[in-house]
Amino acid sequence: MGFLLLSLILRYWIHTVEGSCSEGSVVTCDDCLQLSANCAWCTEENFTDWFSVSQRCDTLNILLEKGCDRAHIYLPVSEAQILQDRPLEKKPAAGNQTQISPQKMSLKLRPGSEVTFQVKIKHTEDYPVDIYYLMDLSASMFDDLGMIKNLGSTLSKEMAKLTSKFRMGFGSFVDKPVLPFIQITEKQLANPCSHTSMICQPTFGYKHVLPLTSRTDKFNEIIAKQKVSANLDLLEGGFDAIMQATVCGDKIGWRNDSMRLLVFVSGADSHFGMDSRMAGIVIPNDGQCHLDANNDYYMSTLQEYPTLGQLIEKVVENNILLIFAVTEEQINNYKNYADLIPGATVGVLAKDSGNVLELIVSAYKELRSEIELEALGDTEELHISFTAICPNGTAFPDVKYCSNIKPGETVVFNVSVELPGCLSGLRHFSLKAVGLQDSLEVELDSLCSCDCQQPPTANSSQCTEGQGVSQCGVCVCQPGFLGAQCECNEETALLSDCHATNDSEKCNGQGDCYCGQCVCHKSSFGRIYGAYCECDNYSCVRFRGELCGGHGVCDCGECHCESGWTGDYCNCSTETEECKSEDGDLCSGRGKCSCGKCVCTVPGASGDKCEKCPTCEEACSSARTCVECHLQDNEEPASCEQECSRAKILVNLTSDKDYYKSPSMQCTLKMESECWVSFSGVEDETGVIAYNLHKYGCPEAPNIPMIILGVSLSVVCIGLILLAVWKVLISVHDKKEVAKFEAEKAKAKWQTVGGIT
Ligand SMILES: *[C@@H]1O[C@H](CO)[C@@H](O)[C@H](O)[C@H]1NC(C)=O
Ligand SMILES: *[C@@H]1O[C@H](CO)[C@@H](O)[C@H](O)[C@H]1NC(C)=O
Ligand SMILES: *[C@@H]1O[C@H](CO)[C@@H](O)[C@H](O)[C@H]1NC(C)=O
Ligand SMILES: *[C@@H]1O[C@H](CO)[C@@H](O)[C@H](O)[C@H]1NC(C)=O
Ligand SMILES: *[C@@H]1O[C@H](CO)[C@@H](O)[C@H](O)[C@H]1NC(C)=O
Ligand SMILES: *[C@@H]1O[C@H](CO)[C@@H](O)[C@H](O)[C@H]1NC(C)=O
Ligand SMILES: *[C@@H]1O[C@H](CO)[C@@H](O)[C@H](O)[C@H]1NC(C)=O
Ligand SMILES: *[C@@H]1O[C@H](CO)[C@@H](O)[C@H](O)[C@H]1NC(C)=O
Ligand SMILES: *[C@@H]1O[C@H](CO)[C@@H](O)[C@H](O)[C@H]1NC(C)=O
Ligand SMILES: *[C@@H]1O[C@H](CO)[C@@H](O)[C@H](O)[C@H]1NC(C)=O
Repeated sequence: MGFLLLSLILRYWIHTVEGSCSEGSVVTCDDCLQLSANCAWCTEENFTDWFSVSQRCDTLNILLEKGCDRAHIYLPVSEAQILQDRPLEKKPAAGNQTQISPQKMSLKLRPGSEVTFQVKIKHTEDYPVDIYYLMDLSASMFDDLGMIKNLGSTLSKEMAKLTSKFRMGFGSFVDKPVLPFIQITEKQLANPCSHTSMICQPTFGYKHVLPLTSRTDKFNEIIAKQKVSANLDLLEGGFDAIMQATVCGDKIGWRNDSMRLLVFVSGADSHFGMDSRMAGIVIPNDGQCHLDANNDYYMSTLQEYPTLGQLIEKVVENNILLIFAVTEEQINNYKNYADLIPGATVGVLAKDSGNVLELIVSAYKELRSEIELEALGDTEELHISFTAICPNGTAFPDVKYCSNIKPGETVVFNVSVELPGCLSGLRHFSLKAVGLQDSLEVELDSLCSCDCQQPPTANSSQCTEGQGVSQCGVCVCQPGFLGAQCECNEETALLSDCHATNDSEKCNGQGDCYCGQCVCHKSSFGRIYGAYCECDNYSCVRFRGELCGGHGVCDCGECHCESGWTGDYCNCSTETEECKSEDGDLCSGRGKCSCGKCVCTVPGASGDKCEKCPTCEEACSSARTCVECHLQDNEEPASCEQECSRAKILVNLTSDKDYYKSPSMQCTLKMESECWVSFSGVEDETGVIAYNLHKYGCPEAPNIPMIILGVSLSVVCIGLILLAVWKVLISVHDKKEVAKFEAEKAKAKWQTVGGIT
């Protein structure tokens, strides 16, 4: 069970491998051979690892390209080998005449391939001819019997002109002598024609009367003795008779090397197959000879009529050429039969059989002038096709006959045999010309197994001892073992864990767990790898359809850029040469070099190297005089013309703020008047249009009255303050003088008091 599971898994991934010889589950040399006719197998021991064993199977050229040594490439090719080829002799040698060449072949075919070989056929001259005259003896043939009473001698006279070895025989038939084909009253049984004046013999199925003989007088005698019989229904039992005359070769006396003509003469259609069920006969015809000692067909009332298929089989097997000589009314029925029976011809029989001689002779000549090849035996599943190359050199593809052959002419057939699949064993089939005895026996074998497997190199060091044997370069393991050296036990292999994390799928869903290791699937996109098959070399970002911009290697989802390239996409060159402007600066000093291209950083700068910049500082200042002029002399713009046209500036004072879509410059300038002006500018073909002009930040003029007022007020204030200070100083001084006076006065008083004492 475990083994089955694992092999199913392996089959699955092998299916995903691409290439015509690597499709399907190729694990052995045999698998490879069966895949297609041009697949070869490399038997070199270490040609691939075990996981890529299907790589050993490929076409010859690819294997050589992959490095497999020519001596180790196993490539059997289809072949046809001639085993016996006696040449077609011009003059008949005594007893040994060959009509077909070669006589024995062996074919070895790869399934799906085709081999073509040539078969030559020649009618030998003076060919023996056997004619068996099989006649319907129902009542309506009464007059015919009279007409052919001399047929024996006339026919042999005619045939003597064509062959020296001629024999004739005779047989007759009516129908199964049972109800409802006949009446079974006693009188009717004895004489089925009793309702008329005629005397008939009792109804019979088939009677073999005269074995083939060269004594044509005997034939005349026999005819003279024949009596008609009768039956009830319109159809006769002719096919019973043909069957017996065909299979009872010994009694009829067909020669082995003769052309066997069976002339079937009847005025009615024939019963076949299950028609006999009306009479309660249900045992199928067994295609065997059932003639009793009297040469009567004794199974007539016991077995069904033969089916058309049974009849065809026996007629072909016994080389019988049927000539239906039937009346006008029946011609269409028998034409339908003849179309199905190889070699059968139909001729219109006159009411009284008066023309039967001419009919036989012309049918014989027609048969002799046509060579038709047919394949007999086990040809099921084989595709056999023929190309007839007729004596005049014309080739007819898909035609297996030539007509209008003259005696002694040779017809060549190119026979192609294709084998769709492998055969279980040898096949045998034969090719022969309709009506001729000789045949080419073909033995066919399919090339479906590798010869190098026949004696496996037992106990080779390549394979673990006792667990596998080396065959065609790979180890074929015993049941229960697996792996390149059959080193792995299937039981333990299935239990092992190949999950990166508890949640992740086994081998990330990109591989199979094998002996505890992930074996990553093959992918037509690239290589899958990693311990858990988590990486691949094709799932990376793309730039312009190129993986990693075409300048990096994809490794497990990341681009590793080649030197000289950078960026997530490896689409960015590190080269700066392209960014250098004429003066040697990178991007004219107005941008940075990124991926070999300038990215301008200064507003308004453009160009491959940011060399264009109408709005950079110089541009704004060049507009200064013109803009200034406009802002000063609004009443008379014409006077600014000169200033402006020199700097190629056009000023639109009336423009809306958003009239021009995208200003390419924003300028802010300080003018001579100490005012600031800001404006937007756009480039057009004539120069720059300046618009949205704004003047601001101009210095304001002084206010004289306010200044005078201010000055006056400050003078008054200062005066008042000085007055106040003076007042304070005076009062402080006065206080000091008073104190001094008081002190003087006191001193004088003390002096007076002292003088008295
Ligand atoms: C194959 O490889 C094995 C191990 O790598 C080595 O022992 C052996 O000799 C090789 N066989 C051949 C034929 O090179
Ligand atoms: C016919 O050919 C076979 C084989 O070629 C040969 O053995 C035999 O003797 C030949 N018979 C006659 C009569 O030539
Ligand atoms: C005719 O062929 C059969 C089988 O092929 C053979 O048994 C028989 O002996 C042959 N008869 C003659 C007369 O060669
Ligand atoms: C060769 O014979 C066939 C009939 O056998 C005929 O159809 C064809 O036209 C002939 N070709 C030539 C070139 O005569
Ligand atoms: C018949 O086969 C031979 C070789 O087997 C080949 O040379 C020839 O061209 C083929 N003829 C036709 C018409 O196919
Ligand atoms: C292979 O090995 C087995 C067991 O080891 C032994 O019985 C057998 O004889 C060996 N076969 C060959 C061909 O050496
Ligand atoms: C994974 O599963 C095992 C057993 O089921 C458990 O012991 C372990 O903790 C789990 N690990 C994580 C990361 O969930
Ligand atoms: C992936 O690796 C395989 C095998 O090495 C190689 O053939 C293929 O070109 C690589 N694919 C890419 C896109 O690099
Ligand atoms: C590189 O590729 C990315 C993605 O496609 C793209 O955005 C970028 O512009 C490319 N860089 C260059 C220099 O082409
Ligand atoms: C100035 O702008 C106005 C719209 O605001 C426009 O109609 C006019 O044509 C512009 N003048 C020039 C000279 O471009």
